[in-house]
Formats: sequence, structure tokens, C-alpha cells
Amino acid sequence: MKISDFLKIDYDTSLIALTYILGKSKSYVLMNQNLDLNSEQNQRLNDIINKRKDSYPLQYAIGEWEFYNIKLKVDERALIPRFETEIIVDYLIKSPITKEKILDIGTGTGAIALALAKNIKNTLVIGSDIEDKALSLACENKVLTGIKNVDFIKSDLFADISGTYDLIVSNPPYIDKKDYESLDKELYYEPKSALYGGEDGLDFYRKIISEASKYLNNQGHLVFEIGYNQKEILNNLLSKQGFVNIQNIKDFNDFDRFIIAQKG
Ligand SMILES: C[S@@+](CC[C@H](N)C(=O)[O-])C[C@H]1O[C@@H](n2cnc3c(N)ncnc32)[C@H](O)[C@@H]1O
Repeated sequence: MKISDFLKIDYDTSLIALTYILGKSKSYVLMNQNLDLNSEQNQRLNDIINKRKDSYPLQYAIGEWEFYNIKLKVDERALIPRFETEIIVDYLIKSPITKEKILDIGTGTGAIALALAKNIKNTLVIGSDIEDKALSLACENKVLTGIKNVDFIKSDLFADISGTYDLIVSNPPYIDKKDYESLDKELYYEPKSALYGGEDGLDFYRKIISEASKYLNNQGHLVFEIGYNQKEILNNLLSKQGFVNIQNIKDFNDFDRFIIAQKG
């Protein structure tokens, strides 16, 4: 079949999937609609379109996804890395703060850890997760990307973390009970352990904030991705726990999305 045939069946899915299948840009796909796909490409794209019929996430159907210009393997073992998360990765890469040793709690696919390790000179990044299946995917992504200055370890938050870090970053599960019960169907394909943050969504933040100082070097930084309505309460928790220079960063939809705080 030709590209144009697939675009008629499911335009959005075909356009994005073809950028991965062909390894080309969206404009290449659109400008070469008369191209005949070979049988392997036909089969792969048909398979992706069929999976999408049941609201299966496009990223899982494709099996790979780009995060901060790094192609990662993605599947149901871990959360799909979100575009918004690239905002904090970019901020941290460009920030002059010390970041020779970085801990990424709840690393999932390893997206944040791998992007920081690849783009920050002279850094060592540890990505941790409680889920074996997420860790196995993160390790596969380390091999696939060839990024060396990163390690992945199993730990329930800080339980098996040793040493101290210049920077602790975490995008923990933060969806509260009410919101979890009314998510779009597509999101239920992602692990509950990556999304659900307890009754009020704040379970993981409370635990991390209460212990982080022990694992931070002096003047080290704690950085969170947060839910749209969690800024005030988390700013307060952080300042009660002695953190200073608390800053909030918005995402492209103008939602408060990140917090950066310094050990006082
Ligand atoms: C929102 S996902 C973030 C994944 C990845 N960092 C990203 O931004 O794409 C949260 C991650 O926290 C992990 N997690 C959940 N409970 C945890 C715990 N008690 N200790 C460590 N990691 C945990 C989940 O397995 C999941 O991979």
C-alpha cells in the first residue's frame, strides 16, 4: 500500500508511526505520499493502526518514542515519557547548579536519567525505581542508547540509596484517587504504580521531601515534576522542611509543572 492509503485510514497514527517506521521527518512522509511501503512496513503500520482502535497508546504501539532527541524503547513496563518532562530536563542541563552526582527517583524508562547523563559533562546519574519491570526497560535503554555514565538500581524511594547527591530529581506518581478513577481510557494501559499517588496524590512527595536532605550535598537541589494543582501545598511542605530558594516553572500550557528547591 502507498503512504496516502494509510493516511486515509488513520491520518494522525499513520503520520507519526511512519516517521518511526521510515526513520524520516513528518514533512518527508507528507511529501512522499505516493511511496509504496514494502511488506514489512505495511505489516508494521497495519498492526499499529489496529492496536490504536482500542485506545492503545500510540507510543506503545510503535514501541519506541523520542525523548529529548534520544530514541527510547517504550512498552507497558513503564510510563510513556511525556514531552513536558523535557522542559525540566532542558532547564537542568542549561542550569549552572552543581550536578556532578544526580539521582532520578522513579526513573521508569530511564528517560530523565539518560537525557541528563547524555547532555551534562562529568556527571554520574543514578536512576532508581521500585518496579523490576521498569528497571529492566531502563537498562535496555541504557544499552540501546550507548549512554555510559548512568546506572539503574532498585529502591523503594531512599530505602536502598547510599551516598549523597548534588541533585535529586523526581517525577513521582502524583494522580489523586478522584482523578485516577476518571482518566482517559488510554492512560489505564500505563502502570498504576507510575500514576497513582495516593488519596490526595501527594504520598510520594511527602516521603521524598522528609528524607531528601540526608541524601543531598550542602546546597544541593531537589527538583520535582508536579500535578497542575499541587504547587502551593508542595512549596509549603518544602519550606517547612527547611528548603530555600523555592522556584516554580510552568509548562507550555501555563500550568505550574515543576518545583526546584535548595537544601537550606
Ligand atoms: C510518573 S512515573 C515517571 C517515570 C519517568 N521518570 C518519566 O518521567 O517518564 C513514576 C515512576 O515512579 C516509580 N515508583 C513508584 N513507586 C515508587 C517507589 N516507592 N520508589 C521508587 N520508585 C517508585 C514507578 O514505577 C514509575 O516508574
